[in-house]
Amino acid sequence: MKPVILDVDTGIDDALAIAYALNSPELEVIGLTTCFGNAPIESTTRNTLVVLEKLGKMVPVYAGADKQLKGGLKKYPTHVHGEDGLGNQVDRTPEKRAESEGAVDYIINQVIKQPQEITIIAVGPLTNLALAVKKEPEIASLVKEVIIMGGAVFTAGNVTPYSEANIITDPEAADIVFSSGLPVTIVGLDVTMKTLLPREALTDWRDLKRDAAHFFADMTSFYMQSYETHHPGIGGCALHDPLAVGVAIDPSFVKKEEWSVKVVLEGEERGRTIAHTEGGPKIQVCTHVKSETFLKHFLGRIF
Ligand code: RIB
Ligand code: CA
Repeated sequence: MKPVILDVDTGIDDALAIAYALNSPELEVIGLTTCFGNAPIESTTRNTLVVLEKLGKMVPVYAGADKQLKGGLKKYPTHVHGEDGLGNQVDRTPEKRAESEGAVDYIINQVIKQPQEITIIAVGPLTNLALAVKKEPEIASLVKEVIIMGGAVFTAGNVTPYSEANIITDPEAADIVFSSGLPVTIVGLDVTMKTLLPREALTDWRDLKRDAAHFFADMTSFYMQSYETHHPGIGGCALHDPLAVGVAIDPSFVKKEEWSVKVVLEGEERGRTIAHTEGGPKIQVCTHVKSETFLKHFLGRIF
């Protein structure tokens, strides 16, 4: 089993990624760290606790960053994830609370305690990871692997024509992570937009005798409505965050290329991720995905 810290901004596809990871025997999710992004930090932390309760899983949750490294007012994507971050399906206050230790210190302490063992899967803005590597640079050589959902390296963005949501929410954080020497694999829109969950899956989930499956179906239906608005006729939604988990489970789902990656921090292209060969730490960029193989695996594991 691969010990994993899952860094989330629980939103709808984060919730799908949490369920996929917790139902996969290859991974041991030792902790979840939360970040602002799809909703404010209070909501993403609550949502993570709610999802764990719905799944009947006990995993410690550590709250993290509530804002980006460099100024700016965050507008939350309520049109995509709903007012509450889970498609307006939050129906309870979770019984459990987040741990007293913060996300950044948790990441640092676990990586130092288990050198070369921990895989960090980050599927929100990279603020927690950037703060951790700034506070304790040595973790860059102690983490086994960092798999991030973010970026649009050889394709268009989904917030601006240039930038993907996790990166544009905190470009400075992404720039710190990509230039830190952390062993990063980027699972960007280049591949995640090719992993579409079909609407029919929700009917199958609703036929299951599981409260969690019905909750996930209702939540994901909201997400699919948003996709239909922005991509008429798409007939489903992208499995952005679940694919990052999938790459941790089975790297053969994707083809990777080695690049250096810089993040544009100024001007119209702020948040753009540019692959180059002009020196700097090497990053694994996912360029192709076995979409059908991955989707079949995801659907076989999620519930
Ligand atoms: O661009 C998609 C990413 O932004 C996903 O991680 C989604 O949850 C949002 O955080
Ligand atoms: Ca996310």
